Order: sequence, then C-alpha cells, then structure tokens
Amino acid sequence: MNNRLTIAIQKKGRLFDQSTDLIKKSGINFSTKGDNLLAKSNNLPIDILFVRSDDIPSLVSNGDADLAIVGENVLIEKSLFKRTYIEKIIDLGFSKCRLSFAAPKNNKIKSFNNMKIATSYPNTVKKYLKDNNINASVTNIHGSVELTPYIGMSDIICDLVSSGATLEANNLKEIEVILQSQAVLIKNKNLNNEKEKIADKVISRMQGVVNAIESKYVMLNVDASKVKDICKLLPGSESPTIIPLEDSKKVAIHALCQEPIFWETMEKLKAKGASSILVMPVEKILN
Ligand code: PRP
Repeated sequence: MNNRLTIAIQKKGRLFDQSTDLIKKSGINFSTKGDNLLAKSNNLPIDILFVRSDDIPSLVSNGDADLAIVGENVLIEKSLFKRTYIEKIIDLGFSKCRLSFAAPKNNKIKSFNNMKIATSYPNTVKKYLKDNNINASVTNIHGSVELTPYIGMSDIICDLVSSGATLEANNLKEIEVILQSQAVLIKNKNLNNEKEKIADKVISRMQGVVNAIESKYVMLNVDASKVKDICKLLPGSESPTIIPLEDSKKVAIHALCQEPIFWETMEKLKAKGASSILVMPVEKILN
C-alpha cells in the first residue's frame, strides 16, 4: 500500500500562492515544473496534488487526497446536504472573503422574496433562503456572475467579495453578507495509522506557522518594581522571562506575545517606565 500522504491545493487562483508558501514554511520541500499537477516532496513521504478548488472537498471525502487547503466557502458549498468524511483542522487566516448578496446600484431592494438570484454557490444560497423563509429562485452559474443582472438572467447575485473592486467595477452594491470565509486545512477522517502519523506532523507544523503569523517576541528593560504592571500590558503572553541586569534595580523582560503588538501598546509600555522596547517577528512556534 502506498503510504505517501497527499495534500491537495488549488492549482491556480486566490489560494495558490499562500498555500504553497504555507507548505514550504512547514518544511515540506518540493519543486514543480511547468503545468505538472503532481509534485513529490524530496524530504518527506508527501505528494502535493494541484487540482480545481471545486474538486477538493470530494477528493478529501473520498480519500483520494488526505489533507487539503481549501476556501471554507467551497468546503461548505460542497458539503451541504450530503454526508462527508472531512474534518476541518485549522483556520489558516489567509484568503479572507465573504459571500454576499449584491444588486445593481440603482435597484432599491426591500425583500429577496420572488427575486431571481444568480450564484456559483447554489447550495449555500438555498440553505440561507430556507433558514430565513425567503421564497426566491436560484440559478447556478460558474463564472461572470456579476454580468447576470444586466442580461436579464437575475435580479440580484450572490458572490464572493474580497476587496469589493469587482462589484464596484460592475456597478453593483453589496446588500447582505451570508458567509465569512478564509482558507482552511481539512483532513480525511479515515486515514490509516501510517498516514495519520505523517498528517499529525504536517498539522502541527502548519499550526506552528499560523500561530507565528501574529506573534511577536518582545524584549524590554524596566524597574523591578514595575514588572507586574508591564506584564499585564503584554498581550497573549503566558509567562514572561525576567532577567536581572547589571543595574540591580532593573530587569529585562522577554515575552512571546501571541497577539499583535500595536504602537499603542508600545506607547503604554513606555509610559509605565519600560525602555529599549524591541518587538521582533517570530517565524515558527511549536507548542
Ligand atoms: C471572486 C468573485 C469575484 C471576485 C471578488 O472570484 O467571484 O469575481 O473574486 O473579489 P474582489 O471583491 O476583491 O474584487 P475569484 O477571483 O475567486 O475567482 P472565481 O471567479 O473562480 O470565483
């Protein structure tokens, strides 16, 4: 039996660059040539599959891929109304977007009842309509959804919005958000023991990369009498290290802060007597 772990990712599109970046930062070395749809890692028993986003949930559910990075919007759309063998493991924090209703700017929409809605997310939209007792018709279209109100195919659309530039370019206004989405790591629920071990390693490394994104290592000096006040100001730090300094009244505090450090926080630290405040990026964290 082939016990190489397979990780499916989008072959092109909004998730591709950050998915490959995350895999590489997790210490899985691979290289791709041209339009190759399969890349073999040269340092771990792992293969990367480059596939269409839409196919990822079924590939993982059927066990044709073991792990995958996919937009939660696609995962939800493809998993609604059916039994799947997929476990969501990590919210990865990138490719954030939302699924929203939108209409031509000059349309005054009071209710979605009796509307014709065009979308690439028919299951998600139908569930929303049912949950909210709205009676409307849903047409499935795979792309250029923004065009449909102008050719009489729809009254409103329901599509992904990130920056809002596509809606703006097509003279559409966002009316209501029905789903917030980001990239997620998913896993087949029935891996064999060998694959489960490799998957655990990958998951723990990816979690380490994700944890590190917002984390900072903070170093500062302060009067020993102020340590408690200063520690209260350090966001998401568990147990800072306190180091004596040559000036016996002073100490250095080193802390791993697992939340962003804004200028405001640094200014508050300074106001409480901290000096030489250094904030440094963290590359990986293994908890
Ligand atoms: C999505 C969506 C919009 C666009 C919105 O398409 O369908 O066209 O992004 O992004 P914006 O608010 O930043 O302009 P995507 O590029 O994901 O490709 P798709 O058509 O395959 O969904």
